[in-house]
Amino acid sequence: MELLCIQSQEHPELPLAELKAVMECENIDADIEVITEGLLILKNISEENLDEYYKILTKRLGYTHEVHEIIKKSNVEDFDRDVLDINWCEYINETFAVRVKRFHSEIDTVATERRAGSLILENCNNLKVNLTKPKSLVRIVAYMNDFYIAIERIKLNKKHFEESKPHKRPFFYPGSMNPKLARCMVNLSRVNEGDLLLDPFCGTGGILIEAGLIGCKVVGSDIYWKMKNGTSINLDYYGIKDYRTFNLDVRELKMYEKVASVVTDPPYGISTSTGDIEGDDIFKEFFKSIYDNMRDDAYLCMASPHYVDLKPMADEVGFEIVEQYGIKMHRSLTRIISVIRKKLD
Ligand SMILES: C[S@@+](CC[C@H](N)C(=O)[O-])C[C@H]1O[C@@H](n2cnc3c(N)ncnc32)[C@H](O)[C@@H]1O
Repeated sequence: MELLCIQSQEHPELPLAELKAVMECENIDADIEVITEGLLILKNISEENLDEYYKILTKRLGYTHEVHEIIKKSNVEDFDRDVLDINWCEYINETFAVRVKRFHSEIDTVATERRAGSLILENCNNLKVNLTKPKSLVRIVAYMNDFYIAIERIKLNKKHFEESKPHKRPFFYPGSMNPKLARCMVNLSRVNEGDLLLDPFCGTGGILIEAGLIGCKVVGSDIYWKMKNGTSINLDYYGIKDYRTFNLDVRELKMYEKVASVVTDPPYGISTSTGDIEGDDIFKEFFKSIYDNMRDDAYLCMASPHYVDLKPMADEVGFEIVEQYGIKMHRSLTRIISVIRKKLD
């Protein structure tokens, strides 16, 4: 069994890194073949757990837009014959639409959709085309000379990321992270449903909302009461029940239970206040304070500006950086997303 994944091309590395992290913590065993940026195949995936894997991937991933079951790999020359060879009645439930997506291909999308549609009707005459509300979606991906003929199994709910943009939440404050990146960072921390996740600079709660939505228990704290309160308002609004919020300076943090994951966006730059902590010291203080609050197998995923070298600070406390990704914000600022864990002895 092979699954075709169509990913966002917003960033060259994060969508794949997010998928790998989710597969790792959810024990999804498959080989990944990257066809091109935004397009990859999961090979040798166990059929036994497939329904469960679909559910996990569609529920969790931020930067993966579609997951389909590949029916057949074809090419420009054999396309008609290959579409006709498929027993479509096995895959389609009464009504269908064909949608074609191109990657480095010049084929005529509309003509290919029409052609495939009529071949499918020829092959299985009790089916009907319905372009607005089809019960089944045939997804054809054209990559150079190849075609991947696939069927959609579960629709990913991408509306959420549009609808939960910071300015659409009941409590808004500038500087909140976009929800897709927040979801990706939660996933990079390899956290599982039911685990305890902490954001000690919670601001408006953007990271905690995403973690709560995938089923984590969440804890947020912030030096400002107004932010702690705003986080609670936002978490309530998104129906997240299992949460606690505190009004604390990060240096005072002493968790009632060691956490399985820390995901955070510490303050930096002139626009965010750091209390009375000077410049980069906020990162040092954060590392010192967070270490003992984390389980030994916990991951920390954090954002920082490119001009702060986290490595010596992390080293000093006993952390190691395992992955790093740069996101160019503007000419003079790149945001670095780091995945960090305790050094193993
Ligand atoms: C960049 S914002 C976090 C944004 C958050 N991820 C969101 O989506 O809204 C950083 C937060 O750290 C808080 N903060 C600043 N200094 C702090 C400190 N010493 N201890 C705890 N929180 C602090 C600020 O009040 C601010 O809300």
